[in-house]
Amino acid sequence: DASRKVTVAVIPGDGIGTEVMDPTLRILEEVGSRHGLQFAWQHHDWSCEHYTRTGRMMPEDGLDQLAQADQILLGAVGYPGVPDHVSLWGLLIPIRRTFRQYINLRPVKLMPGIESPLRLRDGQDIDFVVVRENNEGEYSEVGGRMYRGTPEEFAVQESVFTRRGVERAARYALELADSRGGGLASATKSNGIVHTMPFWDQVVHETAKDFPGVHVRDYHIDALSALFVLDPGRFDVVVASNLFGDILTDLGAAIIGSIGIAPSGNLNPEGEFPSMFEPVHGSAPDIAGQGIANPLGQIWAASMMLDHLGHERAGAEVLAAVEATLVAGVKTPDLGGTATTTEVADAVLAHLTTGR
Ligand code: NAI
Ligand code: MG
Repeated sequence: DASRKVTVAVIPGDGIGTEVMDPTLRILEEVGSRHGLQFAWQHHDWSCEHYTRTGRMMPEDGLDQLAQADQILLGAVGYPGVPDHVSLWGLLIPIRRTFRQYINLRPVKLMPGIESPLRLRDGQDIDFVVVRENNEGEYSEVGGRMYRGTPEEFAVQESVFTRRGVERAARYALELADSRGGGLASATKSNGIVHTMPFWDQVVHETAKDFPGVHVRDYHIDALSALFVLDPGRFDVVVASNLFGDILTDLGAAIIGSIGIAPSGNLNPEGEFPSMFEPVHGSAPDIAGQGIANPLGQIWAASMMLDHLGHERAGAEVLAAVEATLVAGVKTPDLGGTATTTEVADAVLAHLTTGR
């Protein structure tokens, strides 16, 4: 389609989030120009630094501002001195919930040119997707603490699983499994968590009746974690609750070589609200400011944004350029290389423009 303008809210955040964003925008502009896609960036300096200055991670009307955008690109937020729950609940979680980004999509794919820390058998490949429920479940505000500071003190936190919430996550995962021609692994713990998890299992299997071609198998989360390490090749699509999915996806990022390249999409599949794309990694204060952060997680997240916009060819081109860069050995230190953030991004750009 002839030139289409897409408004993207850009929140680099803190630490290396600010270092990996600019090169990513350059790459999006390059690929967009060849696919009739024009970007209007809305830059926001919302971050822990913003919090230190103003007492808020984002302005009071921040969500209203974001609602004007078609999509959101996020770097990472979090910095020493600001408690992590402030950065999470002051920015990320309100965005995910207000915009009904109820799917957190995380590809777990071992890229060519990267060595997994696992000892994979010959011909064994890692290429699956984790679909994490992103709006409810264990991450809930329901609960409280009583008798603070006394020996009787206690804390209660309730998990919230709704039929609607579980069903839409399951349906998304089932559709994905169907389109990939593969099976669905569902993370559960119905032996220990006796109310919510059997409910999860029930709704997943009820929803699966609409997908006779997809084989669904339940795995207890502990065994599932072990299988991510011992036999990752068996998975195609994995669906999990908010907490289980959070843990599984960090493990997923670890087995594909570095947390620095893993991407994620917080999706509102209906497109009623903007979706948000971000790398899995955080702000990495230990390497911030050195110019050596791996930009590939952010770039891969941008490729997911292109997919979500319906520009799958453009998304695939970005991913192919990422692969070519890795195969050429242009890698930051987290992948055992010596390249800088800029050198890696430039290599991706070069592969994009030469079309290989
Ligand atoms: P982290 O992901 O920032 O760092 C973990 C380790 O991986 C560090 O050694 C870091 O140097 C390395 N690493 C991460 N990304 C990298 C990259 N692109 N290139 C090279 N190396 C990379 O996780 P950590 O240390 O637990 O958290 C740091 C801060 O980030 C905390 O404040 C945390 O709350 C926040 N955080 C924010 C997230 C978000 O914005 N979505 C997600 C995870 C953490
Ligand atoms: Mg996590």
